[in-house]
Amino acid sequence: MLLFRQKPPTDWLPKVLGNLPAVLIDHAHLERKAATSALNLEKYRDLYPHVDQLNAIAIEELQHFQLVLELLKRRAIPFGQPYPSPWIAGLMKSVRNGARHQAIDHLICCSLIEGRSCEKFQILASELKDIDPELATFYAGLVESEGNHYATYLLMARGVDEAETDRRLDFYLDLDARLIQEPNPLPMLH
Ligand SMILES: [Fe+2]
Ligand SMILES: [Fe+2]
Repeated sequence: MLLFRQKPPTDWLPKVLGNLPAVLIDHAHLERKAATSALNLEKYRDLYPHVDQLNAIAIEELQHFQLVLELLKRRAIPFGQPYPSPWIAGLMKSVRNGARHQAIDHLICCSLIEGRSCEKFQILASELKDIDPELATFYAGLVESEGNHYATYLLMARGVDEAETDRRLDFYLDLDARLIQEPNPLPMLH
């Protein structure tokens, strides 16, 4: 179902497994940003009919944020500063101006971020099974929700303009494939 054209680089998993406390702090911020992204999408006129659906996603992301915060507390990891993601910044830099184009591009970026989270949580759920079973179960529990967000955002964009969405998705999938290969030594998910 995920349309990605490139796998995460081979050094991603060892980097994450070697920095789990820092990655969990980054994950908390990722969920916080996912909640605010859902709310930010409500500014586009083309998405007014979806305001309830976007609120529901924002609430769900806020619940994920809270779950990560509770995990941090259980593990005595203090909440800390977020790192900016070069991959997310690279995607967002290509969002065009102009109401409809901006809404479609923004939705595609949000969809790809959710899709990559879904993919990476799936990898972590399986890789952490023996190392950290609690965390493996935690990540397995998030896969379906992030996968649904990925599909929902893509469907929303297609509802605005199907041909334009597919054209831009082709562009963004190439951009994602290129950006995801760029080295990023920081302990973060994306
Ligand atoms: Fe989430
Ligand atoms: Fe999500």
